[in-house]
Amino acid sequence: MNTYFTSEILDDGVHVLTFDTPASAANVFNRETLNELSTIIDAIAANPAVRGLIFLSAKPAIFIAGADLREMARKTAENNLLEMIHFGQQVFNRITDLPIPTAAAIHGACLGGGYELCLACDYRIASDASCTRIGLPETLLGLLPAWGGSTRLPRLIGLPDALDIILQGRRLAAVPALKRGMIDAVVPREHLIRAAIERMGKGMPSRPRHVLVNNPLAAFVIGSRARARVMKTTKGHYPAVLQALEVAVTGLSKPLADSLALESHAIIRLTKTSVCRNLMEAFFLQERAKRLHVLTSAAAKELRKINMTAVIGAGIMGAGIAQWVSARGHMVILRDIDEEKVRNGLATIAGLYQQGLKRHTFDRVSAREGMDRISPNAREVPLTHVDLVIEAAVEKMDVKKLVFQELAELTRDDAVLATNTSALSINELATVVKHPERVIGLHFFNPVHTMQLVEVVVGNQTHSIVTERVLQFVQGIGKLPVVVKDSPGFLVNRVLMPYLMEAVTLFETGASAVQIDQVMLDFGMPMGPLRLLDEVGIDVAFHVATHVSAAFSDRMHVPEALRLLLQANHLGRKTGSGFYVHHAHGGSEVNGEIMHLVTTKQARRMERQDLQERMALALVNEAARCLEEGIVSEPQDVDFAMIMGTGFAPFRGGPLRYADSLEISHLVMSLTHLAEDVHPRFTACALLQDMAKTGKRFYMDKTT
Ligand code: NAI
Repeated sequence: MNTYFTSEILDDGVHVLTFDTPASAANVFNRETLNELSTIIDAIAANPAVRGLIFLSAKPAIFIAGADLREMARKTAENNLLEMIHFGQQVFNRITDLPIPTAAAIHGACLGGGYELCLACDYRIASDASCTRIGLPETLLGLLPAWGGSTRLPRLIGLPDALDIILQGRRLAAVPALKRGMIDAVVPREHLIRAAIERMGKGMPSRPRHVLVNNPLAAFVIGSRARARVMKTTKGHYPAVLQALEVAVTGLSKPLADSLALESHAIIRLTKTSVCRNLMEAFFLQERAKRLHVLTSAAAKELRKINMTAVIGAGIMGAGIAQWVSARGHMVILRDIDEEKVRNGLATIAGLYQQGLKRHTFDRVSAREGMDRISPNAREVPLTHVDLVIEAAVEKMDVKKLVFQELAELTRDDAVLATNTSALSINELATVVKHPERVIGLHFFNPVHTMQLVEVVVGNQTHSIVTERVLQFVQGIGKLPVVVKDSPGFLVNRVLMPYLMEAVTLFETGASAVQIDQVMLDFGMPMGPLRLLDEVGIDVAFHVATHVSAAFSDRMHVPEALRLLLQANHLGRKTGSGFYVHHAHGGSEVNGEIMHLVTTKQARRMERQDLQERMALALVNEAARCLEEGIVSEPQDVDFAMIMGTGFAPFRGGPLRYADSLEISHLVMSLTHLAEDVHPRFTACALLQDMAKTGKRFYMDKTT
């Protein structure tokens, strides 16, 4: 009796094997599912009546999500992962070796080990649904495809395309996957089986052998170029990308079995690295955010779901939020005081839907339906049927207070009133509302459609039911929440500010913009701090920095250079110049006009390492302080939010894991030296000092 797979034999002898993990929305491969699959494959191989085999999934949006990463992590810790890797390779090899035609009928996410199963089949047919995503994202987790993916994909689609998929960890929609040759056909979901049978009826496929790119000489050249590109973009911080490259290139000139052996040895080496453990942990933190609750699950289930929403303010954030929320099935009233702003907001939303169409995130019908869920309005409209209002008007407390006073009158008493403020106090805002327990912060990041993190900011009076309802709403729209206490800058902006301000201070004191940015790129940040300021906007950054530093004036100050940039309208990309000059057609260079902001030469000759230390440690110290003050409750919250909200070097596992890797006592020593030599703002926070004395770490698992 099978637990995970159900079988159906069609009239023509085709065996349809449907993967359907009980009581789960996903299918994954672990030892148990592989065992069952292995037994079924044996039975099929021994049954001459079976004329073909089709793999199918019963799940609404997942074909096979890949390997069970929790089990992988466990087996890594127990030192017996190799056996599991070999077993998976053997099962997939036996599928390839079956004397009958085989096909994967893919609908939904088909990733990692899921796609490696498909690669072992003769044919791959995918549904045209927008939930269908096909790819090998292993390198993003510090791993490489080791159930045949690094071996079979280059042979199937040619080395250059395969490297692009594997090294970038891409997940493609069905149509682009078809263009790359990763699958053979795209059809509506209901035609999957028929299309698979048709293909299988043609017997074994004859496929191009890609001799021009897959021969040893070409592979060597392609590999060398790819290696240079990888080193440039990853600075060597991500060993999995290099290992995957090595295996794919070297494996091409070897027999299948030898290439598979390269895969298995490489993955074992990788799982022993801190980079892999940190990236896997970052993945688990995302899973944790998806299941985050502040009430018990029984109590949480009882709550009324948020359906109808309203967004106040149709600017950059309001439009972005309205589009995202409407695309996830919610009705949205979009209000602004200004007719033209409403029109512009709608145009932005239409543009985002267009982009989604191009990226195959939506089909035409769902994009139109999403657009139809938005009711734009420049006048006051009744809001009595609204469950949640998200205010995204300008960042001014007096404006927000007026908006909230009005909202309190227009909505039902149980409607949640949320503000998307970047830094203003939720507690203060709540004072103007009769029921302050329904006021909460819902801090989306810009741009809304790409940033997954949302800070759920809880005020002193916010009711836990309100927090829970908002958490469920955030999770329901596919964003990842972190719950933070109301405090200036909340978590992400507060931790980021000392880092950004340190970068500006270093600039003022003579370090070059290019060098400041380069050392932090080398550290692993996705963008240098000064370039980030230009992207965010000097005005926005100045506003947040002023607000945050007013609250923590003993150790934070806004550098004069930032104020002068603002005064001179060097606002960054939006005005064409900030720390850099940004050309309309792309490209940028250092802004020569602002060199008068450099007041001393102190930092001109600073070593790269010292520059890096000043910026990175300013950030780490503030991150620890947020934990010390209970802004969040766990180190994981800080690390998760900083990775998701700022791209903090994911391979380092977040600022607090990075602190552990430095050893807390060394970190405190470095901060003390900086406090003595540079400025007392570097004084290690009480938590770090205490941890140094008692030999504690943020994480007990010592994965760093
Ligand atoms: P924006 O200036 O693009 O849009 C603000 C919109 O609010 C304007 O269209 C304006 O007409 C409208 N507005 C002003 N008063 C109003 C009122 N009384 N009723 C209705 N609409 C009103 O500003 P943006 O960037 O969208 O920011 C909105 C909020 O989101 C601010 O609180 C900001 O701090 C916050 N935020 C901004 C981020 C960003 O990167 N831009 C990131 C995260 C939060």
